[in-house]
Amino acid sequence: MKKQVAIDGPAGAGKTTVAKAVAKRMQMNYLDTGAMYRAVAYVLLQKGVDLQDRLAIEQEMDSIQMEIVYLQGEQHVFVNHEDVTPYIRTPEVSMGASAVGKVPKVRIKLVELQRETARRYDIVMDGRDIGTYVLPCAKAKFYLTASSDVRAVRRGKDMQKAGEKVDFTELEKEIIARDKADSEREFAPLRCAEDAVYLDTSRMSQDEVIAYVCKKIGEIYG
Ligand code: DC
Repeated sequence: MKKQVAIDGPAGAGKTTVAKAVAKRMQMNYLDTGAMYRAVAYVLLQKGVDLQDRLAIEQEMDSIQMEIVYLQGEQHVFVNHEDVTPYIRTPEVSMGASAVGKVPKVRIKLVELQRETARRYDIVMDGRDIGTYVLPCAKAKFYLTASSDVRAVRRGKDMQKAGEKVDFTELEKEIIARDKADSEREFAPLRCAEDAVYLDTSRMSQDEVIAYVCKKIGEIYG
């Protein structure tokens, strides 16, 4: 079986940055599953679909064809042959991703692609339900979290680096709302797997988290 590393946790916990760095260091592939939910939300918002309308979302899913492509080591998400990666990091798309993630048909379709990727490559995958639902047999599972204000500051700084204006109070509110929706949904909610290493990173630097996760993976996979 291929090596599987699952990294879950709430919004802004630093999962993506950590997962990317760990994958590079451990010479594994990396899959950001949040980007996949974001891509669905973006495309449906573009089409004017109401993201609270479950039936409408389900109908649209049949016409969505998604492909994950790595360009110069960076993950890009293509929907119906269009690279939507540059457009999926807005607050509107963040909330939209959480909304489409409630719909089982969306999850089932995306999870199929996630598991298919894990069958082909040694993989570090980050999301909300990787350790509990997508890859329950992964030997290395981590749940990264931090207080909501720390997470808002981290996410906000990333957005500022990308040239965006940030209202930190609004951002923290959005993060709390998203965590609530993600952990209260019925199908594959955000949850720490029983066999995951739980890590509160509020007082840890990114380098410390990366080093810790790599050390644990080394112990597990040798
Ligand atoms: O990790 P992220 O912030 O990019 O994820 C955006 C949203 O997508 C998140 O709020 C909920 C949804 N999501 C999900 O339901 N399951 C995943 N495995 C990853 C993301």
